[in-house]
Amino acid sequence: MRIILFTGKGGVGKTTLSAATGAYLSELGRKVLVVSVDPAHSLSDVLEEDAGPEPVKIFRNFYAQEIDVYYSIEKFWGVLKEYLKSLLRWQGIDEILAEEMSVLPGMEEVSAFLWINSHVEKGEFDVIIVDSAPTGETLRFLSLPDAASWWVTKILPLQRKLMKFIRPAAKMVSSMPLPEEQTYDALEDLFRQVYNLYYLLQNPEVSSVRLVVNPEKMVIKETEKAFTYLHLFGFPVDAVFLNKVAPEDSPFYEVQKKYIERIKTSFEPTPVFVVPQFYEEVLGYEKLKELGKLLYKEEAPDKIFYTDKPFEIVENEKTYVLRLTLKEASEDKIEVYQKGEDLILKIGNLKKHFFLPRVLLNKEITGAVVKEGNLLEITFK
Ligand SMILES: Nc1ncnc2c1ncn2[C@@H]1O[C@H](COP(=O)(O)OP(=O)(O)OP(=O)(O)O)[C@@H](O)[C@H]1O
Ligand SMILES: [Mg+2]
Repeated sequence: MRIILFTGKGGVGKTTLSAATGAYLSELGRKVLVVSVDPAHSLSDVLEEDAGPEPVKIFRNFYAQEIDVYYSIEKFWGVLKEYLKSLLRWQGIDEILAEEMSVLPGMEEVSAFLWINSHVEKGEFDVIIVDSAPTGETLRFLSLPDAASWWVTKILPLQRKLMKFIRPAAKMVSSMPLPEEQTYDALEDLFRQVYNLYYLLQNPEVSSVRLVVNPEKMVIKETEKAFTYLHLFGFPVDAVFLNKVAPEDSPFYEVQKKYIERIKTSFEPTPVFVVPQFYEEVLGYEKLKELGKLLYKEEAPDKIFYTDKPFEIVENEKTYVLRLTLKEASEDKIEVYQKGEDLILKIGNLKKHFFLPRVLLNKEITGAVVKEGNLLEITFK
């Protein structure tokens, strides 16, 4: 079983490449689900077929699903929703509003986690492809369980214990609806499922994040940032797709050239797949399948393309060491300098950019040495 998650800045081609990857995989005999977790769905438009709130068969062993938060709440949140509604009603909020307000922030993300986990547990698909929202939202989506962990491990069990103790007395003095044991059971089960998927998404033997980027300045910066943070949070990126590259003989290529170079050097040794700019829209199963074939050349799209860590940050008594993996051992002199959030390495006539996470931003570079051939160690203080 494999989970492949596509992300990237808005409009770069996430949905198109998710669908193309799925279509080609299904052609190779895998049972595939492409699931869109971006509330602004466009998967149906790209497939030219209606995907539903449950997986819909599009073609033979190829399925598509667009997650709908209201539908998911009915399916996964029964007991909890009833409790929230009773609480809101008790505060004098009317029924219709209570219905709307029970869609709390984060429910969309949690619903997506629950759906994907449910597909994983049922084992119906060989590959689950996640067409996700633009990078910022995806990072928030992926780190949701981490953000909730304090609450889940510390507060929830405490409150549950306390509730068991005070419930009988509290019921006598107040009409406020109190969560029952089954509400806590439901909540705990729900978080168990969220965490199950969270850990799977961090397992490089199961999950891969694929970043889609275009040869444009604004897109590159956002993608470099996502690349740094995805790795920092523990989500393995196994490939980068450089999409919408103009033909070499076109004037657009001249403009794109320096960005193409930057993308290749900055993300390497993570493999960078180059995807041409097409002059007609790639819509419908047949065309998507052809695009998939072209994308991956002779390789199967569910292969894990990269498993190493492209970088690592180690802290030792306020000194931070950033270990960057270079594509190959370098005999050249390496120059390192910092420009805002960018760390720039000059190796021969190549220039590599690395987006610095906040922890290294206000530090000074105190040294840089090449270790074991292709490992560069940069010290920050
Ligand atoms: N290689 C390509 N050549 C030409 N057009 C492309 C290519 N890849 C994607 N497109 C077009 O770019 C537009 C955006 O693509 P797509 O919807 O796949 O991007 P997205 O990243 O999912 O966008 P959003 O952030 O809005 O979800 C679409 O019109 C699509 O047909
Ligand atoms: Mg999209």
